[in-house]
Amino acid sequence: MEHRATSLVAVLLLQLLVLSKAQQVEVTVQQGTLRGVVEQSAYNTSYTAFRGIPYAQPPVGELRFADPQPADGWEGVRDASEYGSDCVQPDGSGSEDCLYLNVYVPGVPEEGAKLPVLFWVHGGGFYYNSGSDTEHGPDFLISYGVILVTINYRLAQFGFLSTGDEVVPGNAGFKDQHLALTWAKENIASFGGDPDQITLWGQSAGGWSVSSHLVSPLSTGLFSKIIIQSGNFIPLLPSMELARQNAFRLGAALGFETDDSQQLVDFLRSVNATDLQVDSSLVMSDQEKQLFSYSLWYPTTEPDLEGAFMTEQAIQRLIDGEFVHVPIMTGVTSAELGARILTQPDTISAMNDRFIETVGPNLHLPTVEQQQEAAAKLREFYFGDGTISADDPEPLVNLYNDFLMFEPTDALVRKVTETTDLPVFYYEFDYHVESVNVSEWGAPHSSDLPFLFLRKDTVYNLDPNSDEDKVRRNLLRCYTNFAKYGNPTPEADPVVWEAYNNETRSYMLMQATFTLSQDKDAERMDFWEENVPLLPYANTYSKHNV
Ligand SMILES: *[C@@H]1O[C@H](CO)[C@@H](O)[C@H](O)[C@H]1NC(C)=O
Ligand SMILES: *[C@@H]1O[C@H](CO)[C@@H](O)[C@H](O)[C@H]1NC(C)=O
Ligand SMILES: *[C@@H]1O[C@H](CO)[C@@H](O)[C@H](O)[C@H]1NC(C)=O
Ligand SMILES: *[C@@H]1O[C@H](CO)[C@@H](O)[C@H](O)[C@H]1NC(C)=O
Repeated sequence: MEHRATSLVAVLLLQLLVLSKAQQVEVTVQQGTLRGVVEQSAYNTSYTAFRGIPYAQPPVGELRFADPQPADGWEGVRDASEYGSDCVQPDGSGSEDCLYLNVYVPGVPEEGAKLPVLFWVHGGGFYYNSGSDTEHGPDFLISYGVILVTINYRLAQFGFLSTGDEVVPGNAGFKDQHLALTWAKENIASFGGDPDQITLWGQSAGGWSVSSHLVSPLSTGLFSKIIIQSGNFIPLLPSMELARQNAFRLGAALGFETDDSQQLVDFLRSVNATDLQVDSSLVMSDQEKQLFSYSLWYPTTEPDLEGAFMTEQAIQRLIDGEFVHVPIMTGVTSAELGARILTQPDTISAMNDRFIETVGPNLHLPTVEQQQEAAAKLREFYFGDGTISADDPEPLVNLYNDFLMFEPTDALVRKVTETTDLPVFYYEFDYHVESVNVSEWGAPHSSDLPFLFLRKDTVYNLDPNSDEDKVRRNLLRCYTNFAKYGNPTPEADPVVWEAYNNETRSYMLMQATFTLSQDKDAERMDFWEENVPLLPYANTYSKHNV
């Protein structure tokens, strides 16, 4: 009793302290004390922001391309009111010194509050974007009783250059994410978060990222739920040889010819960040430029060295059941990136003239013969024996969507539910309204994000009686319930979002109202499962097929 009275006084004193310190709050983590700021969200709730927390040493100089090193501590109180720099962006903005994360806490942090945590890995093709509030403001989520963590990680050549050996084994950007996640696991209790209730969550390249953490041997125990949104590792995996070749071609494009990894990397570390951003057209071969889907500086498999994030193909790990067994929420938007193919006339004519060579290498099948055979079937299934042309856009858009997003998501859902008892909550976001981005094909890639994060360049209708805000609140309840309970609708809300199973094949169709639907794109997905089954890629340097 007396103890209780004392702690009550302590709480009151703490609150006084908080008020008298003009909306500043201190929290002590392993490295030292942080001073956050109390702010008001767009939903008129109060939260505390801790921004620009270093989780790794600045990856500059000798640390460029290297695995991230844990950040040092500091003396005294570190101001956490400002974001750390974005990582280097395609336009040259940002900085290499960018390995910072942000923690947003509802109200003020209370140690022992054990709030669930959403840990956000942003998208942007491993190429651009950041965890800052330009696109990822916490205002909506923070009003639903969860802690939000957003991070920066190294992008493009800074994050994904690989020499395919011990000099630069690759996936530094994934290792940044892993270090940030480890930081959250170790420190989030100081903010009132529950280290045993961390939901790992990412969209687009962030979805590719978090699904890779799902199957990485490094990630066990770091998260207890996962949300894989509009993207995963299935659509492609550049081989380690290809990644190595790209690194040497980058050197050559900058005038440095060698076949020695160490010499190459010493040179690449001596070049300033701006000069390192060589136009990718100078690095890619003509053949690569015509591939159906390809980009330099993607994640890759790594040599089998200590600290490796991924030494065999992610698909193989999934098939073998070698993944963290946690509840999964995953889905797509209704239009995703499908229409993008219509803006690529060279790819379309390459598909028409040489379909098998253009599409085959992107199919997840273990031999070139199987890829070619499946490509021929895909052509017939989508285009019959007609010409492939933007004049007949629908089959092109369908194929591109299926290839890049719909089939990878569906295949992951089917594989996990076929091999485990884990609950998998599957959705399609398809909300149409003028004020948010829609196209004639439906809700495009990323159009769901402004319903989860406050974007600075977006105009919102926050009237709780508007369709837009109802959809937003529906989505926010589903996401935060999943973070809290591993179930987006622990009670009918008003419908129950039933987990996927192979009999009902349920998914949540998110429109102005949410309805439980069945068998998403069944005919196309069944065709893929039968003719392009989920198997590791050909020509990839992994322990399964060297
Ligand atoms: C927030 O509060 C302001 C001032 O009271 C009010 O005008 C606004 O409508 C509120 N916004 C929301 C989303 O409730
Ligand atoms: C990078 O080096 C080039 C010359 O090679 C120079 O023009 C440029 O200003 C440098 N950029 C930075 C950010 O130092
Ligand atoms: C919405 O469209 C505008 C204009 O095309 C674009 O600048 C913005 O990035 C889009 N927002 C999203 C979330 O895709
Ligand atoms: C669903 O999965 C179960 C267990 O793996 C299997 O016995 C059953 O045949 C499957 N049903 C369908 C419709 O595929």
